[in-house]
Amino acid sequence: MRTEQPKLIRLVDYQQPDYLIDETHLTFELYEDYALVHAHLVMQRNPALGCDLPRLVLDGVELQLLHLAMDDQVLTAADYQVDAEQLSLQPLRPSFTLDSTVRIEPQNNTALEGLYKSGEMFCTQCEAQGFRKITYYLDRPDVMSSFTTTVIAEKQRYPILLSNGNLIEEGVEDKRHWATWQDPHKKPAYLFAVVAGDLWSVEDSFTTMNGREVTLRIFVEPENIDKCQHAMNSLKKCMRWDEEQYGREYDLDIFMIVAVNDFNMGAMENKGLNIFNSSCVLAKPETSTDAIFQRIESIVAHEYFHNWSGNRVTCRDWFQLSLKEGFTVFRDSEFSADMNSRTVKRIEDATFLRTHQFAEDAGPLAHPVRPPEYMEISNFYTWTIYEKGAEVVRMLHTLLGPERFRQGSDLYFERHDGQAVTCDDFVAAMESVSGMDLTQFKRWYSQAGTPVLRVTDEYDAERQLYHIDIAQSCPATPGQANKQPFVIPVAMGLLGAEGQALSARLQDAEQCVTQDNWVLTLNQAQQRFTFTEVSERPLPSLLRGFSAPVKLHYDYSREQLAFLLQHDSDGFNRWEAAQQLAVQVIEEVCEQLRTHAPVQVDGCLAQSFAAVLNNPHLDTALQAEIISFPSLAYLLELQEQADVQLTDKAREAVRLYLAEQLAEPLQALYNRLREQAKQTQYRPEAEQIGNRRLQAMALSYLTLLQRDDIVAATVAQFEQADNMTERLSALSCLVNSTAQSQAQAALVQFAEEFAHDPLVMDQWFSVQAASSVLGELAHVRQLMQHPSFSIKNPNKVRAVIGAFTQHNLPQFHAEDGSGYVFLAEQVAALDALNPQMSARIITPLTRWQRYTPAQQALMRAQLEQLQALPKLSKDLYEVLERTLA
Ligand code: ARG
Ligand code: ZN
Repeated sequence: MRTEQPKLIRLVDYQQPDYLIDETHLTFELYEDYALVHAHLVMQRNPALGCDLPRLVLDGVELQLLHLAMDDQVLTAADYQVDAEQLSLQPLRPSFTLDSTVRIEPQNNTALEGLYKSGEMFCTQCEAQGFRKITYYLDRPDVMSSFTTTVIAEKQRYPILLSNGNLIEEGVEDKRHWATWQDPHKKPAYLFAVVAGDLWSVEDSFTTMNGREVTLRIFVEPENIDKCQHAMNSLKKCMRWDEEQYGREYDLDIFMIVAVNDFNMGAMENKGLNIFNSSCVLAKPETSTDAIFQRIESIVAHEYFHNWSGNRVTCRDWFQLSLKEGFTVFRDSEFSADMNSRTVKRIEDATFLRTHQFAEDAGPLAHPVRPPEYMEISNFYTWTIYEKGAEVVRMLHTLLGPERFRQGSDLYFERHDGQAVTCDDFVAAMESVSGMDLTQFKRWYSQAGTPVLRVTDEYDAERQLYHIDIAQSCPATPGQANKQPFVIPVAMGLLGAEGQALSARLQDAEQCVTQDNWVLTLNQAQQRFTFTEVSERPLPSLLRGFSAPVKLHYDYSREQLAFLLQHDSDGFNRWEAAQQLAVQVIEEVCEQLRTHAPVQVDGCLAQSFAAVLNNPHLDTALQAEIISFPSLAYLLELQEQADVQLTDKAREAVRLYLAEQLAEPLQALYNRLREQAKQTQYRPEAEQIGNRRLQAMALSYLTLLQRDDIVAATVAQFEQADNMTERLSALSCLVNSTAQSQAQAALVQFAEEFAHDPLVMDQWFSVQAASSVLGELAHVRQLMQHPSFSIKNPNKVRAVIGAFTQHNLPQFHAEDGSGYVFLAEQVAALDALNPQMSARIITPLTRWQRYTPAQQALMRAQLEQLQALPKLSKDLYEVLERTLA
């Protein structure tokens, strides 16, 4: 908790560490009401900085110091200084050892940072600055040390004792036992982990490209032992993929994953000992949806890929966080694209970015991919660092091409193996292999905000010339009034009147050859691109594959969008055309509602969707994406001033119209896919997933018709399906329908069946909290009284509070402000327990400037009340200060 105003930490103030820690020897004595941590550090003055001996300043938070010795000389209180965050003392020689013993209370650690208890097991979360809650240390990523760790605990309660690296010794003494682990690779403290618990494991092995055998083990609580196979399969796939695509081989004899129930984020890449939120590792068909299976595949890969992009080559300081996170998200998203449908993966990523990251980039918390300053680094594990950071890497991939990009990544790993480096080092490797000057490109790391492209065109039939004019701009963001032009790759093609790809030559291009798709590279505020030998007036298909994280405006007519939706060879842009068409139609209805004109929905969307459903050349996954409707959150993101209730009404009106118009084909499609599902053994594989997604989409439209036969079919699917994907989509349709008695019955049955499985109960909670039909505030408050709910468990907080505030926008933004009062209450309650969570779930309130003046006032009032609280965590303090600045 804050005692004084937290300080800003600035990138420009970075300095190398005064001292280094060559060896770290830790001993953990774990008990029920406390733990002792003994540290033996072998240290030296940083040889790069000279031979004077400045004071040694160690990080340490909430530690009770019991013993301190330097070079075996016991130190007394007169020899050192301690405050709430640091311990300092004067070394007497350039090389010395430091021994300390601290007492901590893991069982009372509700912040889930440092060493804590999740249920009956001990575990750690050290990134970014949790290690300082374990022992006094130089808790910064550029201090890399070799670790030897001994864990001692009661044998019966904690039969499994784990840490990083290889097990080198173990033994028993009475009722207690111990294990010593040694990590042969030097690492920063944020990658340290220990686990102690009564865990079962599933074991497998992997033979690396050089023939080394690696033991793979996933540890879980005994009741979850049947939920590990998918994560294990995913692990083996991503290990192979990283060898084939990046030439990266695993570097220890054992790779372990541990599932824990209480975890602030998704997972953590601790060296050789990944710790996962159980929701990101455990799955079986009866309890887990397709979405969860896919999420597990990508997160297992993400954490595994960090072994190189993050661990072998790590970050110099936390301003460089995107160096490992952006690159690793890019890597995991390419892996998922290879394992599933590439187009669908790109649609999912773009949708996510445009809904969440664009909103962040447009609000008071906007920050560059490499932020220049922070108070609390935990607040910077954001969509910008992760997802926009991945888009920046993707643009490098596009600009260099796949071969040179691979050479660049090889060079990066080779040059910097074992080092703690910066985003500049990553870009420098890409420059070295390509000969390109990426100085201007690096503005993506320093300038916040989403660039806007305005595109116009002109066709000169006589000279067969086609001109494209692009203007780029970027709105002001906090602390950055004016932006310099970005380097933006715009992938594109041209369509002729028959829908065929037109070939042409791009003037002044590096290679001015005839082709039919191009990457235009923007680097000025205003630019013209001219194509020659263009035989007819083309229709441009722009920003194919979402080649840059920008907003692109081109004045398409609805006919042109319908045409692109039908003919574009780029799957992403077919989907994008459908989105833009839907946005236009919904906006028109918004306008009708606003002016109290009669609501008339343009038929073009229904016609296009009908054509999509009838098109045998489209796979079901893409069909599902195309007819899936822009989310309310995305629609609001596009509006100058977000009008939640009106937009929700308009959106629902258009959905109902579509359901009515397409009732017949949707019903036929639903029946066919449901029958097919009954005949098929469930597997979480791309083709089946596409079918189930389309089936669910069809059912959700049909639900709007309020027909008894459809309700009956939904109930039947809920009761009979053998997999959670179909069961949950049926449950969600019921909950969001007018058939509330059936919905209630299904909810009761579901809760009885799964009361013992917290991960399934998370889904039960969120399907209700996210429902604008059922999820009234009073009901949400009731859910929080349910015995399965606990505010101390982040998954539960996300399932109820998160689902309500992010997916139930009509209720959260209720005109009386009750949703805002509720969220502020929860933020205050959580801040005393878990600052990372309070600072995160407050996000919807931080977007207050986006809404109507009346709502703005209500939201601001809640933010100000929070700011006036007597005790605020550093995390929440920073978010409030920036939000109200
Ligand atoms: N490095 C982890 C990942 O990207 C995220 C852990 C961050 N944890 C935290 N408490 N800030 O997989
Ligand atoms: Zn990561």
